[in-house]
Amino acid sequence: MNLENQTVGDVQLAYVDSGEGMPVLLIHGFPLDHTMWNAQIGALAARYRVIAPDLRGFGSSGITPGKVTMEQFADDLASLLDALGIGGPAVVCGLSMGGYVAWQFWCKYAQRVRALILCDTRAAADAPEVAAGRLVTADRLLREGPGMLAETMMPKLLAESTAAGRPELAEALGRVIERTDPQGIAAALRGMAERPDVTARLAEITCPALLIVGAEDAISTPQEMGTIARAIPGARLVEIAGAGHMSPVERPQQVSAAMLELLATLG
Ligand code: MLT
Repeated sequence: MNLENQTVGDVQLAYVDSGEGMPVLLIHGFPLDHTMWNAQIGALAARYRVIAPDLRGFGSSGITPGKVTMEQFADDLASLLDALGIGGPAVVCGLSMGGYVAWQFWCKYAQRVRALILCDTRAAADAPEVAAGRLVTADRLLREGPGMLAETMMPKLLAESTAAGRPELAEALGRVIERTDPQGIAAALRGMAERPDVTARLAEITCPALLIVGAEDAISTPQEMGTIARAIPGARLVEIAGAGHMSPVERPQQVSAAMLELLATLG
């Protein structure tokens, strides 16, 4: 898959642009990059135009130290779509932090959203102690490097059966985290710590919405995703057996199939 580059505003963004047809924007989770969507890019690009960027500070994109809010990430993506000539609505899909960005994209650019796909994410803001913890982690990883984050996050990312049966997945995710610049990770942590609570806005979502959650997701649990699904009019929730927080990586075929099923209804 070719990685392309585009300067938008004050940053250079790397992205995959594959296939033709209705645009589908895939927004990765923290602290990863577009490669977490490799299976979905492969499955969707035969029928749709798939755009899978590395967010500012991650993967091969440029880094802006300090703080990057979820709104800033959403603005970056709107500018990227503009630069790619995608002015009409796109299907916007995000996992976890990518979901926080997707909410902000919808809040600001609802007319540019054909449908929402939210994978393993949360609508609530951080509790104060969680937000404070993120700031401490940001400082710590600037001193120690991203390895500490790989160690603390990894046990929570994958279902037990995935971690035991497919160690190469944990290794691949670990490699992505290890090569991510600490400045980019710290900036996103600070941005996530102050992200708004979108729970009260969910009832206003009028576009089709699909929610996907790993049955063993310990970060954004099926119960919490179920509450979000019930708050969005007409939303569908798909629970993926044998997957944790990284359902698109752990059970790629099931996740791609759920996505394709929604996309087929959009015409
Ligand atoms: C992610 O997977 O993007 C993170 O778990 C999000 C978070 O830390 O809230």
